[in-house]
Amino acid sequence: MIKVEGLTRKYGAFTAVDDVSFVCQPGRVTGFLGPNGAGKTTTMRVMVGLTPATSGRVTIGGHLYHDIPNPGLHVGVLLDASAQHAGRTGREILTLGAKTMGLPESRVDEMLALVSLDKTESNRRLRNYSLGMKQRLGIAHALLGDPSVLILDEPANGLDPAGIRWMRGLLKSYADRGGTVLLSSHLLHEVEQIADEMILIGRGKIVASGTKDELLAGAEHKTSLVTALDNELLAKTLRDRGVTVTPAGSGLRVDTAPVEVGRVSVEHGIVLTDLRSADGGLEDLFLSLTEDTQRDNLSAAGAPAAATTTTEGAKA
Ligand SMILES: Nc1ncnc2c1ncn2[C@@H]1O[C@H](COP(=O)(O)OP(=O)(O)O)[C@@H](O)[C@H]1O
Ligand SMILES: [Mg+2]
Repeated sequence: MIKVEGLTRKYGAFTAVDDVSFVCQPGRVTGFLGPNGAGKTTTMRVMVGLTPATSGRVTIGGHLYHDIPNPGLHVGVLLDASAQHAGRTGREILTLGAKTMGLPESRVDEMLALVSLDKTESNRRLRNYSLGMKQRLGIAHALLGDPSVLILDEPANGLDPAGIRWMRGLLKSYADRGGTVLLSSHLLHEVEQIADEMILIGRGKIVASGTKDELLAGAEHKTSLVTALDNELLAKTLRDRGVTVTPAGSGLRVDTAPVEVGRVSVEHGIVLTDLRSADGGLEDLFLSLTEDTQRDNLSAAGAPAAATTTTEGAKA
C-alpha cells in the first residue's frame, strides 16, 4: 500500500503540493484526478524519490522508496513514457530493465506479448514510436519486475479508446490479484471506469476522495431530464403541482429530482421513456471541486463531507 502523509512540496514561494494525505489500498485501483498543474506528477515524483518533499513523506509498504532494495521488483513506475533513450528499440529498453533487475530475458518477451507490441514494433527505435506505443512500452517496463505496486502518471495519454479499454482490463485484473494501483489523469472519463477509489486534487490540495458512489452521494439532484410518451400531459401534471417545466430536446427539463418525476408519472399512469438527473454527474462534481480551488476559494461547501478522505487511517 502507498501512504502519503502531510506531503508538501514548495518551489520557492510557490506551493505545488500542499499538505496532501491519502492511502492507496492493495486490491484497489486508485485514480488520482486533477486539472493540469494540480500537483499530480509532483506527488508521484516524491513517491519514487525523484523529487524531495519539503515536508511530510510517502511510504510504500511502509518503506521510503529509496530504502527499497531492487525497487523494480516491488514498485512499477511509469512517469514519462518518452523519458527513454530515443535511439534504443523497445526490446532493448526492456532488456536493459530486465538486466538491471536481474530478470531473465524471457520476461521481456512475456511483457511485449502482454502489451501487444509485435516483433517488428519492438525492434523499432523509440523515436519512431507513437505516444500510444510508448505508453504500452512504459506499462511493460513498469510490470517487468512483477511488482505489487504500480504508479502510473497519465498512462492513458495517447492511447486510443481500444487501448484505454485494454489498459482498464489489465489494471483491474492486476488489482484483483492483490496489486495496488495508483494512476493519474486530468480526464475524468479516462479513470472513472477504471478506478475503485478516486482522489481529486486541485491547486496542490486534495478536494475530495472516496469511491464513485461516495463522491456522488454528496452531489445534489435537483433537476431532471425526462421524456414521456405524452410529454404535454406530463408537463401539465407537473405544472399543476407548481413545478417549473421547460421543453428540452425531445423531452422536458424539470426543476425537481428524478424521484419526484417518477412518483408523478406512476400516480398519473404516464409512461416515461427516459428519466435522469440533469445535474450531479461526476463530471460536474469534478469541475466544481477543482474550480473552487482554482479560485483559491476552497470552502467546506465545495467538497461533499461524506466523501472526504475516506481512505485515510487505513492500516497496512
Ligand atoms: N521543478 C519545478 N519548478 C517549479 N515549479 C514546478 C516544478 N515542477 C512542477 N512545478 C509546478 O508545480 C505545479 C504542479 O505541477 P505538476 O505536479 O506537474 O502538476 P500535474 O501533474 O497535476 O499537471 C505546476 O504549477 C508546475 O508548474
Ligand atoms: Mg502531470
